Amino acid sequence: MTTKLTPDVAQTLWQAAEGAAALAYAPYSDFQVGAALLTSAGEIVTGCNVENASYGLTNCAERTAVFRAVTEGKLSHGVSIEAIAVVNRDHQSCTPCGACRQVLSEFGLAAIVLYERDGVRKQTTLSALLPESFQL
Ligand code: THU
Repeated sequence: MTTKLTPDVAQTLWQAAEGAAALAYAPYSDFQVGAALLTSAGEIVTGCNVENASYGLTNCAERTAVFRAVTEGKLSHGVSIEAIAVVNRDHQSCTPCGACRQVLSEFGLAAIVLYERDGVRKQTTLSALLPESFQL
């Protein structure tokens, strides 16, 4: 089953990501991020970044969304990520970091990535953001 990213669904993803960004726990960087992914089964799952006093333990919004989706049984073998929207709460430019690109690639290199750059909404694919990606 495949869910198409229509303009309406894209708008829903943007709004869900913004809602998640409002919940981010980022007292150290003050850079609140929200992500909302759409699975090929049509489910939307959100995540936010969760920072820690031991900085390296911070979890990005995108990985929170992926881990949550897997834990909730919404992402697995046979279910892929169709699209993911990533936003900073204050609309600062934000694309998935390298670690998140690798984690996202586990569930669909074809995924469409919605992000903001200089206040403008943009769209690309994960394969464009992560060429020659590592796969087993
Ligand atoms: N962050 C994300 O949540 N996603 C990204 O794609 C980039 C960075 C978070 C991690 C950290 O809490 C804060 O943004 C600043 O790096």
